[in-house]
Amino acid sequence: MIEAEKQIAAKAALQYIKSNMVVGLGTGSTANYFIRYLGAAVKNEALHTVKCVATSKASTALAREVGLDVTPLNSISKIDVTVDGADEFDSDLNLIKGGGGALVQEKIIASLSSQFIVITDAKKQVPTLGAFKLPVEVFKFARMPVLNKLAVMGFNPSLRKDTDGTVFISDNGNVIIDLDLKKIERPERLQEQLQNIPGILDHGLFLGFASVVLMGKNGKVVEFTT
Ligand code: A5P
Repeated sequence: MIEAEKQIAAKAALQYIKSNMVVGLGTGSTANYFIRYLGAAVKNEALHTVKCVATSKASTALAREVGLDVTPLNSISKIDVTVDGADEFDSDLNLIKGGGGALVQEKIIASLSSQFIVITDAKKQVPTLGAFKLPVEVFKFARMPVLNKLAVMGFNPSLRKDTDGTVFISDNGNVIIDLDLKKIERPERLQEQLQNIPGILDHGLFLGFASVVLMGKNGKVVEFTT
């Protein structure tokens, strides 16, 4: 059910892609469906000369596997459209992202994109952000002082671990601290607080980035725009 919702949202995002575009590729299970559909569209020549930039090592690998041309961010001058998943979105199309640990690259690529399209299943729609733990990427060197500071601020932080119990390390060599906030009533205020803590590289609040959310629900795609 959820996988079908992700798939129809991912397929619907293809309508935003035209030949000769530079396309940003997100990270996660929903973005993976989009990467596969885009690869198929290029292969069957429905689209041609599409260049891609990817938000993680995993997305780069999958995109190359399905025959997409993935180029480094530093060698392109524009991104036309980025398609990515999200962990939560609200009615303002503000997001929590970073469940897959790729939030830093995801935010950079979203910020450089003329259009940022989010694809989700229906579980990601929330009245208030925060039930999903907010990921924060932190320099490994400073993980304990930053963790302590976040605890003192009342943000219920925990260091992300892999399933084998070892500390999760991002593609950038940093750690992720997840904040158990339950409800984020003032996301702009929280963003400011997090940005003012040295050692935090970035956080998973994406405020004002998304222009469109395509959500799969009951076999249909519901489109939200700003
Ligand atoms: C990756 O770091 C995340 O921002 C993902 O976009 C987000 O976690 C959504 O992932 P799924 O599509 O797997 O739910």
